[in-house]
Amino acid sequence: GLPESVTIWEVGPRDGLQNEQAVVPVEVKLELIDRLAGAGLTTIEATSFVHPRWVPQLADAEALLAGLTRRDGVRYPVLVPNERGLDRALAAGVTHIAIFASATETFARRNLNRSLDEQFAMFEPVVGRAVAEGLDVRGYVSMCFGDPWEGRVDPSAVVDVGRRLLDMGCSQLSLGDTIGVATPGQVDALIDAFTAAGTPVSALAVHFHDTYGQALANTLAALRRGVSTVDSSAGGLGGCPYAESATGNLATEDLVWMLDGLGVSTGVDLDALATASAWLADTLGRPSPSRVVRALRG
Ligand code: HMG
Ligand code: MG
Repeated sequence: GLPESVTIWEVGPRDGLQNEQAVVPVEVKLELIDRLAGAGLTTIEATSFVHPRWVPQLADAEALLAGLTRRDGVRYPVLVPNERGLDRALAAGVTHIAIFASATETFARRNLNRSLDEQFAMFEPVVGRAVAEGLDVRGYVSMCFGDPWEGRVDPSAVVDVGRRLLDMGCSQLSLGDTIGVATPGQVDALIDAFTAAGTPVSALAVHFHDTYGQALANTLAALRRGVSTVDSSAGGLGGCPYAESATGNLATEDLVWMLDGLGVSTGVDLDALATASAWLADTLGRPSPSRVVRALRG
């Protein structure tokens, strides 16, 4: 069976815009976030409080939060890697954060400047303090299926990392196919490995990049296993500057088109969403990679 409704965790303003060559003006980011909320998205990952030299595209995180008009019923999570990032996020009035761990040694070093083991020491005080402050903390696990340097990733390595994040106090895990290489059988196997280790499927979300065109198929596999939170990016923007060969996320429009067809509710108005993505594509000066945006607005 499929879930009756799906919560879409929109990552376009963060995962999408972190990968833009040109820095997008904060006014454009704010308009994008407001248009996404207007289209019915209720979780919009807004930015990251990471080192501005590591991700200059999101160096305006303070200005963005200061300019944000928060709507009732919408949460605006942000990425936070360490205590310095948490201090900045708290000062900006953030209520939902996400830490981001790696399932592989190489990507931990490249993305966080930490070994696989050292990343937990960095996250532990972040989660502890955030939970004590009443914040909600999501935990991402990156490179859950394949890694550009290490190849295929063993599900047991992912489960080990994920369970450590849950034990720290994360309320949800987002399983990331950072470079978009997974196929649906791997998705089944990873979710089965988590449930076999005692993690309820309700604690899992999925985060697919669409490099090999498998993101929607992988999402459907996860939904059939009972996952009901899906990450996607308006217009299919996205990628990680520290992961070779990562392209955009699953496009939110492609996801909503499928879920509408399946009768699974999302609360999202596809037409308004496609209009927002077409506006952003015009603003960025190139067409949206989303098939559905092109079909509806091309
Ligand atoms: P580091 O160089 O090891 O940092 O970077 P450090 O702890 O050694 O500190 C060095 C200096 O940086 C210090 O300043 C700190 O205060 C400062 P100094 O005392 O020398 O003057 N600093 C900061 N300043 C502002 N904000 C901060 C911050 N932290 C330290 N937060 C660090 C370690 C984690 C900071 C760095 O590696 C980093 O920022 N990495 C972020 C990389 C990133 O954002 N990647 C993209 C997101 S992950 C992703 O896209 C995958 C995902 O989508 C899921 C999927 O697809 O799988 C989530
Ligand atoms: Mg990502």
